[in-house]
Amino acid sequence: MKGIILAGGAGSRLYPLTLVASKQLQPVYDKPMVYYPLTTLIEGGIRELCLISTPHDLPRFKQLLGDGSRFGVTIDYREQEKPAGIAQAFLIAESFIGKDSVTLILGDNIFYGGDTFQKAFADFKSGATIFGYHVNDPERYGVVEFDATGKAVSIEEKPKAPKSNYAVPGLYIYDNEVVAITKNLKPSARGELEITAVNVEYLRRGTLRVQRLNRGFAWLDAGTSSSLHEASAYVQTIEKRAGIKIGCPEEAAFRSGLATLAQLEQIVTAMPNCEYREYLAKEVVAEAKRLTK
Ligand code: DAU
Repeated sequence: MKGIILAGGAGSRLYPLTLVASKQLQPVYDKPMVYYPLTTLIEGGIRELCLISTPHDLPRFKQLLGDGSRFGVTIDYREQEKPAGIAQAFLIAESFIGKDSVTLILGDNIFYGGDTFQKAFADFKSGATIFGYHVNDPERYGVVEFDATGKAVSIEEKPKAPKSNYAVPGLYIYDNEVVAITKNLKPSARGELEITAVNVEYLRRGTLRVQRLNRGFAWLDAGTSSSLHEASAYVQTIEKRAGIKIGCPEEAAFRSGLATLAQLEQIVTAMPNCEYREYLAKEVVAEAKRLTK
């Protein structure tokens, strides 16, 4: 399974914050936004990643994440010249995907809680797996409608009259067919290759699975000033209460077996003195040593 993080777009909704740094580089409480989706993929054990962003912002992402070795993964970088749609990611990253299946995650989507995704990656064989999450403003999203037996029967992008309260979050798992499917898509009325059109095609073929995310699960999108602020407040609340960190890729790499304790310790030692380092040193490295004594 390959992993793509889509972190481009115009960022116009966060103007003027995005004049010098793209949306996915903005802080969500104590770390850059892109750390959260990166951590989600690493927790799922995905080791080969590709990050797509604008020609303007790509150098900053390279500066931040490097070749991925700090997180036990490899990261390729690809440019999206214009924001021509989420599904364009599969065309831009075609050579990266090769013959594999692929998970696409949006760089402004933050997930927390449970091991639903890890299980979905491990169980995935073919077709497509997407998710449904109950929200109070479904008209802002892709919306999935279920029949009485729980089977998905329709998916619509930002419908004016949503047929359910289930939004489709920005994490999608596809088999290799996704490249051919995207090649056959026509741009929508707003001139984009729509991810919803890809999902509709899998639904038409009868190979789409839609898994509902349960109530204990948090899905935040940090695409507007208020939702960015809310996401920060949420992360701060959980981190303070539980004494853990959400969206910490170094920790995720260690816990999912992509980095050894010795590698983690070396990385932590090289960090400047800060809360982030202190957390990793005390709560992860020292704790792991204590447990293995
Ligand atoms: O957040 C989940 C929703 O994401 C889904 O429910 C919708 O079906 C899906 O269309 C998408 O809706 P958004 O309105 O959030 O899409 P937006 O255009 O804001 O793009 C989402 C992220 O992807 C954003 O961080 C920018 C990035 N992006 C978007 C486009 C269109 C790119 O990097 N390139 C693009 O061409």
